[in-house]
Amino acid sequence: KMPFKVVMIRHGESEWNKENKFCGWFDASLSSKGVQEAKDAGIALKNEGYQFDVAYTSVLKRANDTLTEVLKALNQEDLNTKKSWRLNERHYGKLTGLNKAETAEKYGDKQVHIWRRSFDVPPPEMDKSHKYYEEIAKNYKDLSESDIPKCESLKMTIERALPYWNDEIVPSIKSGQKIIIAAHGNSLRGIVKYLDNMSDEAIMGLNLPTGIPFVYELDDDMKPVVSMKFLGDEETVKKAMDAVAAQGKSK
Ligand code: 3PG
Repeated sequence: KMPFKVVMIRHGESEWNKENKFCGWFDASLSSKGVQEAKDAGIALKNEGYQFDVAYTSVLKRANDTLTEVLKALNQEDLNTKKSWRLNERHYGKLTGLNKAETAEKYGDKQVHIWRRSFDVPPPEMDKSHKYYEEIAKNYKDLSESDIPKCESLKMTIERALPYWNDEIVPSIKSGQKIIIAAHGNSLRGIVKYLDNMSDEAIMGLNLPTGIPFVYELDDDMKPVVSMKFLGDEETVKKAMDAVAAQGKSK
């Protein structure tokens, strides 16, 4: 029996990736480079013969718009698409809107690395007086107050993403549907950590590049037969990963 294939993609470069700002739940748009990355990802998938039965994405437009570009390239614009806040980027709390390199200058590279990549240390909380509080909150009026985070560690991100993975995505995979997930650096790191059973240490070293699709092949128990196989040459992927890691360094 053939394993189940699942495609995942982090959105293309956003305006805030470009400006090197902590973004989290802020609804930044794709930059023009990000749109191009998404188109290229669609072409790469098309060249490999991919077609999907259902797509999953967050409620943030950088992921939604990436998915749209991918589906256009595949001539699948009308694909059944399911959106959930549970696939959102990790909520960056009080850091939302701050420049990552400037934050590293102020608090040190080490502290910023802890905020960006530690498993269970959350960034400081965003309170109601935060510059972006209202702009974010207005998009989540139908969420209960307790579901709207004030900040999230990777651990907290996994805790709210996994119910969606287990209750919605896994049944769809097991029913034989071919699926694509268009989400975010840290919500996807959460799923990857879970699937590959990575240690809290190991996940700290993983930086997901924007706009490069990767594939998992899963057995009947959703155990990976093939893990995180990128559709791109190794050199390009590695460079893109290193660039993401470097975003949090002071200059
Ligand atoms: C963000 O929310 O700023 C990015 O999408 C992911 O950020 P990180 O790579 O700093 O965790």
